[in-house]
Amino acid sequence: MSNEFDLDGVVPWGRSYEEYASFFAITEPDQSARILDCGGGPSSFNVDMNQRGNRVVSIDPLYGLTKQTIEERVLDARERMMSGFASARDRFVWRCFDSPEASVAHRMRTMRAFLSDYEDGLSDERYIDAALPDLPFPNDSFDLVLSSHFLFLYDHLFDLDFHIDAMQDMLRVGLEARVFPLLDLNGRRSSLVDPVVAGLTERSFQVSLETVPYEFQRGGNQMMRVCRKPNSGKPGS
Ligand SMILES: C[S@@+](CC[C@H](N)C(=O)[O-])C[C@H]1O[C@@H](n2cnc3c(N)ncnc32)[C@H](O)[C@@H]1O
Repeated sequence: MSNEFDLDGVVPWGRSYEEYASFFAITEPDQSARILDCGGGPSSFNVDMNQRGNRVVSIDPLYGLTKQTIEERVLDARERMMSGFASARDRFVWRCFDSPEASVAHRMRTMRAFLSDYEDGLSDERYIDAALPDLPFPNDSFDLVLSSHFLFLYDHLFDLDFHIDAMQDMLRVGLEARVFPLLDLNGRRSSLVDPVVAGLTERSFQVSLETVPYEFQRGGNQMMRVCRKPNSGKPGS
């Protein structure tokens, strides 16, 4: 049996507020921070935070599409996720979800919450059609910049320069960046993790890899936290 999780291109698949809180070790002070989610896709993190009274901005090239087109892509992704789980079930820890069906059902609820909020969020400028590595915000617009299930995961599509440029721009618009997970699509630690740590450290950022209380992809329980060093000069310098 194949052990590859074979997805063609970047898949629109969305996770919930509770999952984001675990991926990113979100604490009480983070709840009131100015947060940017890069590659937010059909996650319900933005709508869930908004309902808690904390406005989050999410960017994604997906947000250039209509609600109906996104819904079609999510339904297509559902089929691909089910067949991916069928061929690579042992690469997941079946603890937070006891089966592929339970995980897909949870994610579909999440994505329905996103879809119901999508048009309001577009007019509210909480969902912005933009893409890494060029964020359309002035320096220091956010306290915390997140990216879940995009960087590292698709390292066969986006190279080291893309990752460094993307993270530098996240740290230009925000004071701190967090990325989860650090695995590639086949469940291995991305080969870009060490060079990204080295590249960002060379550019005077403070980088740490932290274990978090979430593991669905087996071994996927590490988050990268990157901060500007105090007094390191202008953002991105
Ligand atoms: C697997 S989804 C993850 C969605 C969400 N962050 C989550 O964890 O639930 C990956 C997202 O990355 C988006 N994406 C693709 N290229 C991008 C880019 N250059 N910059 C930002 N997001 C991008 C895709 O459109 C897709 O919605």
